Amino acid sequence: MIDPVAQARGFEVTRPTDPRYFPEEYVELFDRTERAMDRLLEDKSPEALAEAFCHYHLVVESVLAQTGYYGIQSTWSPTGADMGPEGEPVHLEGLVEGITRIRSDEGRHVGFGMQEVQRLVSEGVDPAIIEDTLGELLPLVAGTVENPDSEIDSTILVEYATEKLGRRIEIITDTDADLPPVEQLVHVEGGWDVSTV
Ligand SMILES: [Fe+2]
Repeated sequence: MIDPVAQARGFEVTRPTDPRYFPEEYVELFDRTERAMDRLLEDKSPEALAEAFCHYHLVVESVLAQTGYYGIQSTWSPTGADMGPEGEPVHLEGLVEGITRIRSDEGRHVGFGMQEVQRLVSEGVDPAIIEDTLGELLPLVAGTVENPDSEIDSTILVEYATEKLGRRIEIITDTDADLPPVEQLVHVEGGWDVSTV
């Protein structure tokens, strides 16, 4: 369905699974996430659980996915930041609308992960484990969204991801901090404010 549109616009037609779309850092990030999940089969300690939440809910579902949504909306929507390639902008409203709905749904999953990590910290898990795990994974997120060969400037994406991760660490390791209500987690209308979750 996409291929004829790509052809009509003179884009190269590629498979979504083409290895060029999966930088080393992306592969490493998901290998580590898989290991963090596998570990739970044998180690159900609060620390192992916290590390698994950090990998999956906070980095993959939250920071990486949300940075991806932000990049898509910024590039292909008239309401996004101006990140598109030079020349006449291409607006893909249907794609952006679909991604917006996914993003809204994912907000609940992210909220769940944040709540669980915050609970584990309040029950005694050392916040340093959370900070270290997220800190170790950040370069992999940056390496995934950074693309020096792209005509799109990816610096803004790296900044977005870094800020998101910083806010996660702040909220989760402060057991008195209030998590955003679910209405805010799923709210997507009115722009993509980096200050929201
Ligand atoms: Fe999810």
